[in-house]
Amino acid sequence: MRILAIETSCDETAIAILEIAKEDNFSKVTVLGNALLSQIDLHKEYGGVFPMLAKREHTRTITPLLEKVLEEAGLWQEKEIKSIAPEIAQEVENLLTKEEGLSASLLTLLSTIKTPALDAIAVTHGPGLEPALWVGVNFATALSVAWEVPLIPINHMEGHILSSLLLKEDTAYMLKTPHFPLLALLISGGHTELVLMEGWGTYKVIGGTKDDAVGEAYDKVARMLGLPYPGGPEISKLAEEARAHHMQSEFSLPRPMLHSDDLNFSFAGLKTAVLYALKKIPTITTSTKEAFSLEFENAVGEVFTKKVEKALEETGAHTFIVGGGVSANTHIKRMLTHMIEKKFPNITLFIPETKLTTDNAIMIALAGYTRIHTIEKNATHTPIKAIGNLKL
Ligand code: KG4
Ligand code: ZN
Repeated sequence: MRILAIETSCDETAIAILEIAKEDNFSKVTVLGNALLSQIDLHKEYGGVFPMLAKREHTRTITPLLEKVLEEAGLWQEKEIKSIAPEIAQEVENLLTKEEGLSASLLTLLSTIKTPALDAIAVTHGPGLEPALWVGVNFATALSVAWEVPLIPINHMEGHILSSLLLKEDTAYMLKTPHFPLLALLISGGHTELVLMEGWGTYKVIGGTKDDAVGEAYDKVARMLGLPYPGGPEISKLAEEARAHHMQSEFSLPRPMLHSDDLNFSFAGLKTAVLYALKKIPTITTSTKEAFSLEFENAVGEVFTKKVEKALEETGAHTFIVGGGVSANTHIKRMLTHMIEKKFPNITLFIPETKLTTDNAIMIALAGYTRIHTIEKNATHTPIKAIGNLKL
């Protein structure tokens, strides 16, 4: 089965084409093409992602990115007579009226190449920034109309979960069938959730943040320390340096909800605690930054370790995975791995390859693959909508 996937929920425009074949207890995954354009440098100036700027960039870059992926996958074949049926051209134009210039660039591409052999198109329709999501949704819908391929709407967070189950074996990838129930800790710029999966496609959110997402807290604390956006990797780097020279932070920060009787989180207080502590310091040196990064990350790591332990005990899960941008964090990974090896030696742990932890389209294609059988029947009937706060 060959799936083209599109991801535009935040500040990354990503398209991938995967060939996936079912084997006994896994599926063999071949990445035929994978392209990603990050807008981070553009948003850096503002210290965060601006939805309308993100939309403009997705609109500008998505057609060239598709060309690149098709070429990489060997699916770029020029037509002898360059043309496109007028009713299709009209529908593509109608679908892309809100994305300036996009129907023109897409129609040029569609009239140049032969229809590539694809079984489905998967697209992220939430959660994320709505103006950004709409670019991907409208573009994917136009492609599915022009190429007569079923369209599968995907929840971005499902993609983060599934990318953890993708393991590299020599040159190929395997999508593992995990031993359910599976517990997922999803940690990103917009989410902090504990999700229980009883089987493919079933999700129960059993814990979440009451205020800020952990990635958001990382980014905000980094900003207070004068570090660039995105702040997660910056704080992580400083904290690791502090650990390398055995620094004992002279600051102490709270461990919010560490002993609460539920599986919820809260990071707003932690962020405010950093703000107040910083106010008392006349000059912020590199050493102050290291000390705060260390203590902040230790607090976050402790909270996650404790809550995951509680969730594993309560759910009896057989598999544990971490997903989302923050799962690239060395310290969090190390603490969770250590706790599971010590306390739950029978639980299988999956942590995604670092390059798959941040937003990409490979994970959206995987989600499309696991959903294709349920969606295909009515895929062409209901138009897909972008939903900013889409839940799992
Ligand atoms: O999943 P993602 O790429 O986008 C969202 O869907 O939010 O996650 C981005 C978040 C940002 O807040 C970024 O600072 C954080 O992931 N992040 C990290 C690390 N790498 C990225 N946070 C902590 N440590 C890291 N190494
Ligand atoms: Zn994400």
